[in-house]
Amino acid sequence: MNLAVVGTGYVGLVAGTCFAETGNDVICVDIDERKIAMLKERKVPIYEPGLEEMVQRNAEEQRLSFTTELNSAVKRSAIVFIAVGTPQGANGKANLEYVRATAKEIARVMDSRKIIVTKSTVPVGTADQIKRWISEETSHPFAVISNPEFLKEGAAIDDFMKPDRVVLGGDDAEAMESVKELYEPFVRTGNPILVMDSRSAEMSKYAANAMLATKISFINEVSRLCEKTGADISEVRRAIGLDRRIGAHFIFPGVGYGGSCFPKDVRAMISMGGDAPEMLLLKAVEQVNERQKGILVEKVQRHFGANLSGLTFAVWGLAFKPRTDDMRDAPSITVIEELLKAGARVQAFDPEATEEARKVFGDRIHYTDRNYDALAGASALLILTEWNEFRRPDFRRIKQLLKNPVIFDGRNIYDSADLQKVGFKYYSIGRNHG
Ligand SMILES: NC(=O)c1ccc[n+]([C@@H]2O[C@H](COP(=O)([O-])OP(=O)(O)OC[C@H]3O[C@@H](n4cnc5c(N)ncnc54)[C@H](O)[C@@H]3O)[C@@H](O)[C@H]2O)c1
Repeated sequence: MNLAVVGTGYVGLVAGTCFAETGNDVICVDIDERKIAMLKERKVPIYEPGLEEMVQRNAEEQRLSFTTELNSAVKRSAIVFIAVGTPQGANGKANLEYVRATAKEIARVMDSRKIIVTKSTVPVGTADQIKRWISEETSHPFAVISNPEFLKEGAAIDDFMKPDRVVLGGDDAEAMESVKELYEPFVRTGNPILVMDSRSAEMSKYAANAMLATKISFINEVSRLCEKTGADISEVRRAIGLDRRIGAHFIFPGVGYGGSCFPKDVRAMISMGGDAPEMLLLKAVEQVNERQKGILVEKVQRHFGANLSGLTFAVWGLAFKPRTDDMRDAPSITVIEELLKAGARVQAFDPEATEEARKVFGDRIHYTDRNYDALAGASALLILTEWNEFRRPDFRRIKQLLKNPVIFDGRNIYDSADLQKVGFKYYSIGRNHG
């Protein structure tokens, strides 16, 4: 099948590449000329494990191509995916400017019936709005299908190739059949393609992200209570995670959730509620998360005093989570800004996110090429992202390089007894030793 995917970001590029992988002829469109120029040279502008090899193979075999020209891409395609960004807009609302521009542009250039599939995360009711935008521009027939994306950055290809479920919303039976067919190769192990109305499909995406964010804020709140009462969140987490009604996933305490989805989707969901319903729970989820981003600096200042001027801190991990270079709304931004505000210097290492981090911090912090280099002369080490390579470091070497043997672990990746043996003062989240 001939497909076009508009927006070649974390979602669009993965979706387009995976559709090419299953034999479709895919053209990816973006307005960002730099991105398209890189992709034409078979270089992937983002870090996503396994993606570059897959892009190269499919481009080589001529099933995957890249362009800034929407016109020809739409004309040759039966199905056009919208995968552009829907960032946070005014008052927490999702900004639909890019979706609107894309829908209208598709409508202006289409010359026959098209199926337009929305992959971007959009507020409930947007499919109907997209239909209106398109009708304003064209008299050609079309169908709109809502197809929210559930992939996780860092495991995006696996998630796309083997989704837990595919959600499709819409009321055009023929279009639905075509899109279902497209997804058949991804659900061969029996995971379902769920067909529903477009509003339920749109809501499903927000409800999933809001539920996950709620789990994180819940465990973070319990971890604070553990610190206050002398319980250990690691034990509590294991104990509750074994209850099958709760499950072991997404109950790891830390420095708060971040990334390009949870913060903005929780806020968009709150704004969808307006005054009725008041969205009391999700407002609390967000408040807990904002407060949680400050927890590590609170511990640093309790140890070193409020004024951190003259002190240098080593930071391991900048990306909002491991296996991605994405810095959007990363908790590291809040933590580092707080350290800088208190007068500290920061030396940071991240395996993949340094380039993105430079766009955030510029030269206000120092970046190193190796994790141990960040430690030289620092008063303490802060762990902000749980990259695998940080899990079993040489603690004696860390101790030699740091001025003081102090670690603030925002991801609970170390065993406090091990660290005490080597002579560290170890602070983590909800484990009652600091
Ligand atoms: N990143 C994730 O993990 C994830 C997961 C599920 C859903 N989503 C949702 O998917 C959507 C895309 O997210 P993303 O992370 O891929 O965003 P992104 O910012 O990485 O990519 C969006 C791309 O769209 C392009 N674009 C914007 N306007 C355009 C236009 N008019 N024509 C062509 N291209 C245009 C931008 O240049 C950019 O390359 C969002 O709605 C997001 O909420 C993201």
